[in-house]
Amino acid sequence: MWIDSRQSIHRQFILPEATVPASVVLGAQWGDEGKGKAIDQLANHSTWTVRFQGGNNAGHTIVHGDTTLKLHQIPSGISYEHCNLVLGDGMVIDPWVLEEELDKWHDLTGERPEGKRLFISERASIILPFHRLYDSADRVVGTTGRGIGPTYRDRIERVGIRFADLANLVANEEAIQTQAERMSKQLETVGVSDDIEVDALQSDLKWILERYSDAIRPTGLMIDMALRNEERVLLEGAQGAMLDIDQGTYPFVTSSVTSRANATHGAGIHPGHVDQCFGITKAYTTRVGNGPFPSELSLEEGPGMHMAQVGNEYGTTTGRPRRTGWLDMVALRESNRINGYTGLVVTKLDVLGGLDELRICIGYEMDDRTLHVMPTTSEDLARCTPIYETHPGFPAISMDEWIAMADASRSEDTGFDTFPEVIRKYIARIEYLAGVPIVSVGVGPDRRASVASKGGPFDFPADEATF
Ligand code: IMP
Ligand code: MG
Repeated sequence: MWIDSRQSIHRQFILPEATVPASVVLGAQWGDEGKGKAIDQLANHSTWTVRFQGGNNAGHTIVHGDTTLKLHQIPSGISYEHCNLVLGDGMVIDPWVLEEELDKWHDLTGERPEGKRLFISERASIILPFHRLYDSADRVVGTTGRGIGPTYRDRIERVGIRFADLANLVANEEAIQTQAERMSKQLETVGVSDDIEVDALQSDLKWILERYSDAIRPTGLMIDMALRNEERVLLEGAQGAMLDIDQGTYPFVTSSVTSRANATHGAGIHPGHVDQCFGITKAYTTRVGNGPFPSELSLEEGPGMHMAQVGNEYGTTTGRPRRTGWLDMVALRESNRINGYTGLVVTKLDVLGGLDELRICIGYEMDDRTLHVMPTTSEDLARCTPIYETHPGFPAISMDEWIAMADASRSEDTGFDTFPEVIRKYIARIEYLAGVPIVSVGVGPDRRASVASKGGPFDFPADEATF
């Protein structure tokens, strides 16, 4: 066969197309759905877990036995030694908080993963004391105060500092001075009296560069290469669909695109790599911070108080009490419109045990109109009242019993049939209303306390943790 010599030379530089795809895990509500646990379960089957947006506003909790791990920036795949961890391009990263997280991990396991299996994208933005101070002036959104919005703001204004910029910047006193002046001026505009000193900024930047120089990498290239080598990649969302800057309940949202569309982009790979996208939803709803929440209940009494107390609904990052309410299918359908879930994971079903009846919000009333989609403005959403359907409740079940139920489902291969009929029907109803298959139901914080749909993507043994 005749071969064009130019073509054969060219071919040496063409790597094979990736054949093993990536999966995405996203919050389907207002965050805190229990993504950490789902990612932890899936990570055993991946060699890379990647955070692609947000920063330490996130709080992902992983529980195994007596050990509870709270992560803010480190991807939840950390508990598997074979898993590489990426803090991706789309993130904003607080280097001091990262250091605390890494120290805690070291205390627990003796491992120092940075530069060995934990990598920070060169393109990620750095959260500095300035950003935290600026965020502390927020009185509207009820942010986590971690400097997330101001860091993204600097990125969009194209004045922000990325990890890739550090080496040049620390050698350029003039540029640092310009940055410090800009920061001090901006703080003044929001009534914060602190000044950013040039020396302090310079020594901060030097410290960050020295501390993380082993770990700062072109992570998009690394993930792309991993996919070409047929490794499996897990893209880990933070916050939730309703907190998305473009699609959420603006302005009561976070400052990044939390959705599937940004999962690959914020990781530095293309969307064609993704085959599965899991939406994580509680069996009810919670929200921290301000903003409309149509199915909200009182925290002082009744089912809202029950959810808060039994579900221990306090923010992982700020410790603020979370607002609670019934499951909102209008919000969940919107979230599916944006993200196209291939499976839903319903979490914290156990929390509903002991309630006489369970409600599901299936629409809103607004000014005598019935809505099945969310209005665009938060003002309109705040005027919506929920339309509920009511289902029978089920009694409180002890954690040992739930775990026994989940173990039985695995060993007998019975999927959701392990559940009492009332629960089966409630799950089937959510699945029907969402139009997305439910692939796993969480019945407790422990890794074993999950029941997977038979033959579904979560139908595998409950592995032992490696920490
Ligand atoms: P920011 O992300 O700190 O700017 O906060 C903006 C809004 O998003 C506030 O209502 C926060 O409470 C909320 N938020 C940010 N991160 C999370 C999260 O991980 N879980 C739940 N809510 C969050
Ligand atoms: Mg959280």
